[in-house]
Amino acid sequence: MRIAMIGTGYVGLVSGACLSEFGHNVVCIDKDAAKVEALRQGVIPIFEPGLEEVVGANARAGRLTFESAMAQAVSEAEAVFIAVGTPSRRGDGHADLSYVFAAAEELACHLRDYTVVITKSTVPVGTSHQVKQIIARARPDARFDVCSNPEFLREGSAIEDFRRPDRVIVGCDSDRARDVIREIYRPLYLHETPIVFTNPETSELIKYAANAFLATKITFINEIADLCEKVGADVQDVARGIGLDGRIGAKFLHAGPGFGGSCFPKDTLALLKTSQDHEAPARIVEAVVAVNEERKRRMAGKIEAAFGGVRGKTVAVLGLTFKPNTDDMRDAPSLAIVPQLQAAGATVRAYDPEGGKEARKLLDVTLCDSAYEALDGADGVVILTEWNEFRALDVARMKALLKHPLMVDLRNIYRPAHMAAEGFTYVSIGRAMAAPQ
Ligand code: UGA
Repeated sequence: MRIAMIGTGYVGLVSGACLSEFGHNVVCIDKDAAKVEALRQGVIPIFEPGLEEVVGANARAGRLTFESAMAQAVSEAEAVFIAVGTPSRRGDGHADLSYVFAAAEELACHLRDYTVVITKSTVPVGTSHQVKQIIARARPDARFDVCSNPEFLREGSAIEDFRRPDRVIVGCDSDRARDVIREIYRPLYLHETPIVFTNPETSELIKYAANAFLATKITFINEIADLCEKVGADVQDVARGIGLDGRIGAKFLHAGPGFGGSCFPKDTLALLKTSQDHEAPARIVEAVVAVNEERKRRMAGKIEAAFGGVRGKTVAVLGLTFKPNTDDMRDAPSLAIVPQLQAAGATVRAYDPEGGKEARKLLDVTLCDSAYEALDGADGVVILTEWNEFRALDVARMKALLKHPLMVDLRNIYRPAHMAAEGFTYVSIGRAMAAPQ
């Protein structure tokens, strides 16, 4: 099948590359000509494990191409995906749909035969309907349907998530369009992936409800972690103990410094805006947003307390991205925590395996080339992101490099008893502090 993918951001590029791997002919379109040229040369603008290989292999096979103009690709496509950005609108938190609407307006001009237009960007309820109206107004003669097909991939494991999704959600009012979508995702039938067909409004809401629910789960366990610290309980065991209940499930119960990234913060705000617009209060999501914001700020205080104040001290920070296996710094807890430490008088030496380039634009810290370099001469170390390479650092070497054997582990990747035995003061989340033995 011939597919046009409008937008080569995170979702567009991963989806386009993976659909070409399914065997479809995919043209990825982006207005940014320099980006298109780089993609043609195999240069991938984001760090995502496996993406470069998938793009390279399918480009070489001739199934994946890149264009900066829409005309030809859209006119030849049976399906056109809109995968442009929907950032939070300044001021009110509503998703900014200007890129989606502009794409709809432009693609309308190039429609030729019957085409299914699919919104893959995360868009508020009612957007697919608006896209349909925009296209119909611009091209009253065009034969097309508009469907919603939200994406559930996670940064860092996006390729695997696309290849083996838990489910595919499709919001669609037309049988003909449903058949086209079935054909697009046919390779997934082999894995018996459930494909849920519903109406576009439901599909759009499923995306926001899923992200808001996951954000709620994280926020819930984070508050339980605070309680654990007060009563001498262990949040890891609590998470395991409740997660084994099949009705609750074990995933997304890892306590930490608060959720970040390009999706949960933006999508919870957008859901709140929609619920306000429709006078259907979403008080739980409201609390999740507020608790998470406050948590990120409070983490700096936790670090300061562990250091006995940070004025005049050097803090080594390991991990700056919002999660491992990405170079994405959007809404990362580090952006709230590091400046607060600096305002309290700390010097920060940081290391992140992939986030350095982005971090340089957003934070004024000394960026080091390795974890050990960041630790050298620091008064203590803070783990902000659970990159694999931080999980098994040489503890004796860390102790030798640090002025004081102090670790604040906001991702709980070390064991308190082990760190105490190694002579560290070890502070983590939702577990008793461990003192050196
Ligand atoms: C999230 C969803 O997981 C995807 O299903 C969705 O497609 C995506 O948003 C999106 O809307 O595009 P992502 O933002 O890449 O994916 O990352 P997650 O793995 O969900 O992590 C989000 C944040 O929650 C991170 O800051 C992470 O550290 C935090 N988190 C996650 C926890 O603190 N604890 C957990 O147990 C899980």
